[in-house]
Amino acid sequence: MMKKNKSIKTFNVHGSHNTQAWEFSNHLVPPQTASTTFRLRSLKRGADGFQLFANPNSLEKHLKNNDPIWIYDRLEEPSSKMLEEQLAKMENGETAISFSSGMGAISASLLAFLKSGDHLISHQTLYGCSYSLITSWLPRFGITHDLINMNGITAKDLKNKKLKILYFESVANPSLEIIDIKKISQLVKAENRNRNDENKIKIIVDNTFATPWGMRPLDHGADLVIQSLTKNIAGFGTEMGGAVITYKKFLSSLLLIRKDIGAIMHPHSAWNIMVYGIPSQVLRFEAQQKNSIKVAEYLEKHPKVENVSYPGLKSFPQYKLAKTLLQSPDGEFAPGQMLTFTLKGNNKITEKFINHIAQNSYSITLAVSLGLIKTLIEVPGLMTHAAVPKEKQEQSGIPAKLIRMSIGIEDPADIISDLEDAFKKI
Ligand SMILES: Cc1ncc(COP(=O)(O)O)c(C=O)c1O
Repeated sequence: MMKKNKSIKTFNVHGSHNTQAWEFSNHLVPPQTASTTFRLRSLKRGADGFQLFANPNSLEKHLKNNDPIWIYDRLEEPSSKMLEEQLAKMENGETAISFSSGMGAISASLLAFLKSGDHLISHQTLYGCSYSLITSWLPRFGITHDLINMNGITAKDLKNKKLKILYFESVANPSLEIIDIKKISQLVKAENRNRNDENKIKIIVDNTFATPWGMRPLDHGADLVIQSLTKNIAGFGTEMGGAVITYKKFLSSLLLIRKDIGAIMHPHSAWNIMVYGIPSQVLRFEAQQKNSIKVAEYLEKHPKVENVSYPGLKSFPQYKLAKTLLQSPDGEFAPGQMLTFTLKGNNKITEKFINHIAQNSYSITLAVSLGLIKTLIEVPGLMTHAAVPKEKQEQSGIPAKLIRMSIGIEDPADIISDLEDAFKKI
């Protein structure tokens, strides 16, 4: 087990030497599991296992027992269970539940805690598929929403008794706005004093951009935290995955909805993320962050650039808030690996610039996703956020010519030189 005084950096490399998940305690690296179903010693044990997953109360009791009955991968599985133990630690949570993708984690956490007639308030700038889930799919189940500027939310906005969830990204994709979770959670705490357990407002925070090294929203009052593991935690661009990190009281609902929705992570992906992704996350993050500062400073000085947004720049509108919220567990400022910028001139110039990079750059790739070791560039309004209607994009912090970059671990001089070549062509 983790010694109390060990840093999270060390824990990410070693994990728990003794895990409840399987008899892997003698291995330096746990073996990969690849069994969709499990041998059961008796019919009684099989029936007990199924009973656990038939209703939340018996699952609750079983989880306290810590004696897993493995039945079938879609219910629970040893590799992802070990991964979950590590993710919980990284986000300072009590428990974590893995999913096949970030969207699997987001859908499950919203559907597990909302029902017809409930209301949700979300920040107006969100990853395109989260926006689409909230605005296109949830209304079909009678779940209504308001998309607002979450930093302007007041106690009055929380009075609606139908309101059950506040949803936002700690660092919004792609505007990079930082949501003041400390302020919001104080307002929610005050409102929740007047509500019974079933009706309390929950705060769900997608912490993908910040990563657990850059922020731990549970420490600031979030109830559930989402990670798209596909991004910086997996880090190499080979695995899809998602996770909800939370408190034990929410675990049974999430396990049950995962079983019925079926968005489980493949054990092979869980193993890769556990063995390669997590142990190297801090190293990669810090290298990417160092590079991001250099690239942001270069862009800020460039005469063809209209505006640069990076939480580590003094010119970032929420620089002070960023410094208080984006912090590593060591207390260091952690502005991260994501930046955006716009070019002077019209959309055609942006297109020319991006096409030049797509066709000529070595170290920068035109591709979606983010947080990976390779530097990626994209235009959110046309790509990742295409689900946000054109007329709403500007208001949602997605101007048509916004360029988003996720900075990798290359030599920063090469990233800058590829950008410089593209600038020369416009
Ligand atoms: C902030 C954020 N949350 C969630 C997701 C969804 O993650 P996944 O692609 O793993 O489903 C993304 C994907 O880009 C994202 O940027």
